[in-house]
Amino acid sequence: ARRSVLALASAAAFSLSLPALAQSPIVIKFSHVVAQNTPKGKAAEFFAKRAGELTKGRVKVEVYANSSLYKDKEEMEALQLGAVQMLAPSLAKFGPLGVKEFEAFDLPFIFDDYAELHKVTQGPVGKALLAKLEPKGIKGLAYWDNGFKSFSANTPLHVPADYKGKKFRIQSSKVLEEQIRALGAIPQVMAFSEVYQALQTGVVDGTENPISNFYTQKMHEVQKHLSLTNHGYLGYAVITNKKFWDGLPADIRGELEQALKEATDYANKIAQEENDSALEAVRKSGKTTVYTPTAEERLALKKVLAPVHTKMADRVGKETLQEIYKVTG
Ligand code: LMR
Repeated sequence: ARRSVLALASAAAFSLSLPALAQSPIVIKFSHVVAQNTPKGKAAEFFAKRAGELTKGRVKVEVYANSSLYKDKEEMEALQLGAVQMLAPSLAKFGPLGVKEFEAFDLPFIFDDYAELHKVTQGPVGKALLAKLEPKGIKGLAYWDNGFKSFSANTPLHVPADYKGKKFRIQSSKVLEEQIRALGAIPQVMAFSEVYQALQTGVVDGTENPISNFYTQKMHEVQKHLSLTNHGYLGYAVITNKKFWDGLPADIRGELEQALKEATDYANKIAQEENDSALEAVRKSGKTTVYTPTAEERLALKKVLAPVHTKMADRVGKETLQEIYKVTG
């Protein structure tokens, strides 16, 4: 009799634990700094939806957009501490972590277009770069596109001399710092969430970003001139806390990998469109004069910025750089 009571008790415990399990999915906090209606914002939502579907609710991805949880620097620390499980920081933000090679992506004019960039991000070089995160307790899962950056300010930016003496907000990348110095201008590292106000109050004179970021942060309201320079690339590494990821049940990890694969295809499909429609919206707003540099002006910019490659070769690693040059041709 005693045995059957025990059996009953454990059966009860078991039946209790089942719904309890079903009610407590694994929660993945995915924090990012941009608006929801951007390539990254939309891709994060897409991933959250597919992760829920593919794991049949066993995983719940909570997306925190627009720096609502953490700003640039804090989110990296939060990931390492396990306070959040996923991020997609720009490739320009890994320097402070001690992984400098990603700053190769910041080199001016290193990629002519998305096709060239994809040769790196979708090939062995991209994979080797992600692997460099592992000693930091971070696992690199994928690259997501945003697009090519343009410069803005309150005065026209046509020729290199127009940049002289101006203060430009940049992301935390030494390559970007050198880029701004090459223009005779002053770099100012600042969290993304602070840029609008810094532009509005004149703490900085100008900035650089793909148009989707420029528009969704309303920078067009506080910048009179946007020059379509397309001088450099901005994209993301989707990353996770390695211990967390490795500790997931294998089937769930597989389903998440599938969800991420789909989200990556989606991100890279919409990136150009998002930037195109943002540019259209900036034009329509009538608040910023949009300027397309002539071929000659673009060449002048390229020439002034070319020395950044040699100056920064040691920082990003000569080997990494050669590998990138090799695949992009
Ligand atoms: C920036 O700080 O300008 C960008 O990295 C923001 C982003 O995540 O696209």
